[in-house]
Amino acid sequence: MKRVASAILPIIAIDRKASKALHRQIYDAYRAAIVDGRLRPRQRIPSTRVLASEIGVSRFPVLNAYAQLLAEGYFESRVGAGTVVSSSLPDQLTSSQLADAPHSPTPLGPRPVARRYPKLPRAEAMPWLQSWGAFRVGQVAFDQFPQHVWSTLVARRCRQMNAESAHYGKLMGSEALRKAIANYLKIARSVRCEAEQIMIVNGSQQALEITTRVLLNPGSRVWVEEPCYGLARDVFALNGCHLVPVPVDTEGLQVAAAVRKCRTAQAAFVTPSHQFPLGVTMSASRRLQLVDWAQHAGSWIIEDDYDSEYRYESLPIASLQGLDANFRVIYIGTFSKVLFPAMRLGYLVIPSDLVDRFHMTRRVMDLGPPTFFQEVLADFIEEGHFARHIRRMRVLYSQLRSVLVSRLTEELAAMVEVVGDEAGMHLSVMLKNGHCDMEVAERAARQKLSLWPLSPLYLGEARQGFILGFGGTTMTEIPGAVRKLRNLLTT
Ligand SMILES: Cc1ncc(COP(=O)(O)O)c(C=O)c1O
Repeated sequence: MKRVASAILPIIAIDRKASKALHRQIYDAYRAAIVDGRLRPRQRIPSTRVLASEIGVSRFPVLNAYAQLLAEGYFESRVGAGTVVSSSLPDQLTSSQLADAPHSPTPLGPRPVARRYPKLPRAEAMPWLQSWGAFRVGQVAFDQFPQHVWSTLVARRCRQMNAESAHYGKLMGSEALRKAIANYLKIARSVRCEAEQIMIVNGSQQALEITTRVLLNPGSRVWVEEPCYGLARDVFALNGCHLVPVPVDTEGLQVAAAVRKCRTAQAAFVTPSHQFPLGVTMSASRRLQLVDWAQHAGSWIIEDDYDSEYRYESLPIASLQGLDANFRVIYIGTFSKVLFPAMRLGYLVIPSDLVDRFHMTRRVMDLGPPTFFQEVLADFIEEGHFARHIRRMRVLYSQLRSVLVSRLTEELAAMVEVVGDEAGMHLSVMLKNGHCDMEVAERAARQKLSLWPLSPLYLGEARQGFILGFGGTTMTEIPGAVRKLRNLLTT
């Protein structure tokens, strides 16, 4: 027999001393909930037996109230689904009654919010981030993800769940996952770390938030790359830090210029393996200058190594953290690119002497990351699926990148210059012909083409161009998408 899903119990306040009869109180409570929209059409209603027992009355008043609501058309009976809210409101429910419902706007008076809250960009004003189309930045080739393996591992972990694993997990994250990550980072990224220094977080974004709270104060000055990953800048701004934009050239962040501008900054935020968004790799000499500055100024380097696994013309470049003998680098990594963004798992590598501080701060923030998928991911890494997946994806993304670069060169060489295609899942094109990138991106979003404009990523004088993601764009989609881009730039 098919089981009918249990309905959620509404709040029905029964007053036994009231002169109003019990069945009338139940009737009125349901009618009001339907009229003001708290109960929606086709929503399931608890059985008379369940409701009577929950609100502590006999079944008779409940039966009476339900009969009345059915007779007036507020409820209807559905075979196999029990009683539900009617899919159409009864006639006598006029629009004037609806207008009187509590949802009508009333003046609310002053709504004070925190003064340190800066003006943050509205997501709706960025249609290129909403549209689901070719060139969407950050989208992975999910059809290549070994879903069968993943679901086997999920099912196995599910069967192993017990009272202990269902309780609060470890604040720093699952031990198995931290060990697996430390092992991977030492070998693949030349990061100097032990599992004790790894903190599992809900993506790089949370890593930045925790790092800022631990290391910086309102008013702290932070070097940020110009142009820069906007969400990183927003974290610093939200925490009251002053941003010091530092230009990026073909060798990465211009350290000498940054020192001239603000030698005593408390931190530098950098993406040295694949600068976001221009895609350059920081040269060895700039890395050494940066590490040297941090040591002499007593400052911190926040290294965001978000997509370094995918490098095409050479072997992956070692991390900046691995170069620093003074433990001044906070290293951030994520599974958003190597697996998929909805995983919401990333990690921090914390200098050993700061682990306690990070631990205490994290405790106040969220009591640690969700446990279940960490365990699944630890199995995925330990059993070799992670390394295999990266190897396969490197080949695929390299092919997608080659096709995209050759189409752009063949069809758009006069209009754009391609930059930053040596690594990752995106490249950038700089516009040569005076177009406004935001205006073109808005038109593109309406045609299901996702062009992320470069100009909003600059704090000062901006260059015009787009970031084009190729991870989730298929080989067959690329030619059409490049043609669309050409049409947008010629109209
Ligand atoms: C520079 C940079 N860092 C980090 C991320 C990933 O962030 P998260 O781990 O929060 O998904 C992205 C995503 O586009 C990025 O561009």
